[in-house]
Amino acid sequence: MIKKDSNTNIDRRNFLKLTAAAGAGIILSPYIKTNAQSSVTNDLNVALLGTGSQGQVLMNACLKIPNIKFKAVCDIWQDYNQKRAYRLLKKYGHELNAYEDYREMLAKEKDLDAVIVATPDFWHAKHAVDCMEAGLHVYCEKEMSNTLEGARQIVNAARRTGRLVQIGHQRRSNPNYIHCYNNLIQDAGLLGKITTINGQWNRSVQPDNGWPKNKAIPNSVLRKYGFKNMNQHRNWRWYKGLGGGPIVDLGSHQIDIYSWFLNTPPVSVIASGGTDYYDPATHEWYDTVLATFKYKTDHGIVRAFYQTITTNSNQGYFETFMGDQGALTISESAGRVGVFKEATAPAWDQWVSKGIVVAPSEEAKKVETKAILDVRETVAPPKHTLPIEFNDPYHKPHLENFFNSIRGKDKLNCPVEIGYETAVAVLKVNEAIKAKREIRFNKNEFHI
Ligand SMILES: NC(=O)c1ccc[n+]([C@@H]2O[C@H](COP(=O)([O-])OP(=O)(O)OC[C@H]3O[C@@H](n4cnc5c(N)ncnc54)[C@H](O)[C@@H]3O)[C@@H](O)[C@H]2O)c1
Repeated sequence: MIKKDSNTNIDRRNFLKLTAAAGAGIILSPYIKTNAQSSVTNDLNVALLGTGSQGQVLMNACLKIPNIKFKAVCDIWQDYNQKRAYRLLKKYGHELNAYEDYREMLAKEKDLDAVIVATPDFWHAKHAVDCMEAGLHVYCEKEMSNTLEGARQIVNAARRTGRLVQIGHQRRSNPNYIHCYNNLIQDAGLLGKITTINGQWNRSVQPDNGWPKNKAIPNSVLRKYGFKNMNQHRNWRWYKGLGGGPIVDLGSHQIDIYSWFLNTPPVSVIASGGTDYYDPATHEWYDTVLATFKYKTDHGIVRAFYQTITTNSNQGYFETFMGDQGALTISESAGRVGVFKEATAPAWDQWVSKGIVVAPSEEAKKVETKAILDVRETVAPPKHTLPIEFNDPYHKPHLENFFNSIRGKDKLNCPVEIGYETAVAVLKVNEAIKAKREIRFNKNEFHI
């Protein structure tokens, strides 16, 4: 087993190199601050902007990463989410301030290196751009923005200010996904020629998010921040102008992987969807989406199906890449991962001995032989697995990659260019549903 240790402490040798260089007046990276404090320590001063569900997930992952000092939290829900995050960080010994308005935070907190933006999608562009203008590096949750105009503003601000921006497609830093892309697909070519992809995120029926009635945000505050009422504040994903519905919320993670693993964005998309189950008055975006992308890769055409449904959770979420030699099912949820050899493909023994995949047990092989009772039946081949043991919180490696890139010791796994490319592909699905026809992408529209 390759044990993936995502602990990113700068080791002693590199630490000495870093401090010696700083002493000699050499700046190793444009992103290493030149003031005395940060050049001799690894500490990064961080603010959390948006302390809701995902903000708290990211905060908890950061608490497992050494040398991250939270200096501020900011959230308009002062009496609930903001208070929770503030109290927890205090408990962990962070010396920090709490704010409702991020502009006040930027005006008062002069010691920040970076901000983590986990507000609703329609706030991302404004928050990310203003934070960059204030000199901060930004970890911005996906979807980069609910509009392409917003996403473009983030790309342009990153180029203008030279700040680093990591977009929160955290699978880009997940050791299982990195192993599959680098070793299994690119180097070993284990799947052969990839022809088809099938992916999904299926969820059961869920009631709308509620809130403790005595903790409601005053209407005047809600309106100041773009929400009509508390229901909209809690369920912003479903509203046009605020989020993008499940295809953007969930699909963006996986459609991002399609382009990554195929080394190219799609050339067209066709999609069917609607608000079929929920009340369209409060669920403006489609609750059911079935989409098919077409890709032109160096090896030929790939057709990629993706669905997100919100009425049944059958088989959860995964992506399956199918080639003429084998199939890979991958998911952030480790239990779903498996690699399957086509019976006609050459033996995989060498890839097993090189540690690319782990062979199925003898028991699993026997089950396969027994199962073939009729020549017409197609039986799933026994499952190879991946040689990686990854037990960290899902978002930790992506955050570490961001922090280490600020320190000049790593390169961002999901910079704005990638986030933008994915936003173009994903936002187009909603357009294709509305247009009721295939929409072609112009190659240039993926780049700014
Ligand atoms: N990468 C992932 O796996 C993942 C998972 C879930 C959510 N997300 C993303 O994280 C972001 C937040 O999602 P969530 O589920 O935490 O939503 P949420 O509604 O639970 O939390 C959003 C928080 O932002 C606060 N907020 C709203 N507007 C604000 C403003 N102008 N200034 C300060 N605070 C403001 C709200 O009060 C709330 O506490 C979204 O962009 C979402 O797409 C990513």
